[in-house]
Amino acid sequence: MNRPVAFITGASSGIGLATARFLASSNYHLMLFDRDGGTLEAVASELETIGAKVIAIAGNIACEADLDRAMSSIRTNFGCLDAVVANAGINGVWAPIDDLSPDEWDTTIRVNLRGTYLTLNRTVPLLKEKGAGSIVIVASINGVRSFTNAGATAYSATKAAQVAMTYQLALELARAGIRINVVCPGAIDTNIDASTEIRDRQETEVPVIWPEGTIPLSDGEPGMASDVAETIRFLLSDAARHITGTPVFIDGGQGLLK
Ligand code: NAI
Repeated sequence: MNRPVAFITGASSGIGLATARFLASSNYHLMLFDRDGGTLEAVASELETIGAKVIAIAGNIACEADLDRAMSSIRTNFGCLDAVVANAGINGVWAPIDDLSPDEWDTTIRVNLRGTYLTLNRTVPLLKEKGAGSIVIVASINGVRSFTNAGATAYSATKAAQVAMTYQLALELARAGIRINVVCPGAIDTNIDASTEIRDRQETEVPVIWPEGTIPLSDGEPGMASDVAETIRFLLSDAARHITGTPVFIDGGQGLLK
């Protein structure tokens, strides 16, 4: 049987990288996409040693031309597409609303929201050609059931929008045989802090103290990227064939507490 083909954005690091590893070991061929092309090449080489065919494309998810290059490479190298993981994202600037500049707002919206839109806009035609497929968007507890990351207004807005897109598109895409779900991680140990700038936290924060830690299930320890990747693998698989339009929280109860 032919191996399924998955497209993963943000595959150089964190949750996207863990998902690439999980899918490669589950018999997928992979099209990996990230703005960090150097690391992506190393990831592709690593995964080819376990038998997957892996193509790496360096690009920006908010740029049409970059995604078009990726789609044409999928057609040339694989001929079809089965699964999409819309994962790439940034934390951006977290600051008081009256200090957050329009450029800072636009950068977060452009990467997280326009990037998610473009990822789906460009990949859905390939899934429709196949008459089946599965999409997983990586959102967050922020903007969905947690609002305590002070100053994260632009970020929260994009993550809430990703969940809304999932609900809306589950109905639209069902008739094409395409499922779409969304994972909402809490704090996960990745490199996301590198894409975070926090200003004037004392102005936006509501001062509360969590003496026993903020993640009930793990004694305050963040989750691992593999915790999210395992759920994504399940949602993409046939075992989830009757699941669409569904958010899954992967936060050890964090979003219920704070
Ligand atoms: P990360 O920073 O480790 O990985 C993100 C990857 O996306 C990086 O390789 C980066 O180069 C890539 N990327 C960023 N902007 C891009 C763009 N415009 N075009 C192409 N690639 C781009 O972060 P992590 O944690 O793995 O984040 C993945 C997703 O998980 C994000 O959407 C984030 O919002 C979400 N998330 C992360 C949480 C965490 O605590 N780490 C919690 C909740 C959600």
